[in-house]
Amino acid sequence: MARKFFVGGNFKMNGSKASIKQIVESLNAAELPTDVEIVIAPPALYLHWAHDHLKDTKVELAAQNAFPKDNGAYTGEIAAPQIKDVGATWVILGHSERRTIIKESDEFVADKTKHVLEHDLGVILCIGETLEERDAGMTLEVCNRQLDAVCDVIKDWSRIVVAYEPVWAIGTGLAATPDDAQFTHHEIRKHLTEKLGEEQANSIRIIYGGSVNGKNAASFNACADIDGYLVGGASLKPEFIDIVNSRQ
Ligand code: 13P
Repeated sequence: MARKFFVGGNFKMNGSKASIKQIVESLNAAELPTDVEIVIAPPALYLHWAHDHLKDTKVELAAQNAFPKDNGAYTGEIAAPQIKDVGATWVILGHSERRTIIKESDEFVADKTKHVLEHDLGVILCIGETLEERDAGMTLEVCNRQLDAVCDVIKDWSRIVVAYEPVWAIGTGLAATPDDAQFTHHEIRKHLTEKLGEEQANSIRIIYGGSVNGKNAASFNACADIDGYLVGGASLKPEFIDIVNSRQ
């Protein structure tokens, strides 16, 4: 089965009612391809706002995080049922900014993934190595370790999109080269084949994130194992639509 191209926009902790409305309206006005899955992830505070302004049902919404409980005394956290309640259908989990700054462990990310999937939301599962880990030749070891924690608790990966985001490429303007990214994506798929079997591994979208922009997105077009992008900074700009269209 062909893997549907997937482009996500992670707004991170950016935006206001005015700027998010503007982004959503520009997506409403754009002619968007039907063969690309498009998901935007505004801050949780604005999911409802974005949902109210989105006219194009082709564009889905993702939360940037979720806590692995349905409700309760967890000050400051957001629950999967609440995410669904405001109209989002995806959750980004394991982003490197949460793994490194908030110190989320592989096991915690796996626990959250399991919980979110149980609520019938999709998961954009982020993995990737830091610059030190890359320099130490540990790229695949780190990615495999992060994936294995999830493989230990999830057997059905049909609602997981894996986002390979090397930390050294995030927000630096230094995207991985297409050859470099393709190599790592291929190795990730090989590892998933060993853990989950060929059929499942071949159906999982593995998207790339790290300084993707309107100019460089098409340079990854020949990469057989790159099934889309998770875009940070450029998702706040009009060039996001160029990235969505980069395979056309
Ligand atoms: P940039 O596109 O700003 O490098 O961010 C990538 C990212 O972290 C998306 O989740």
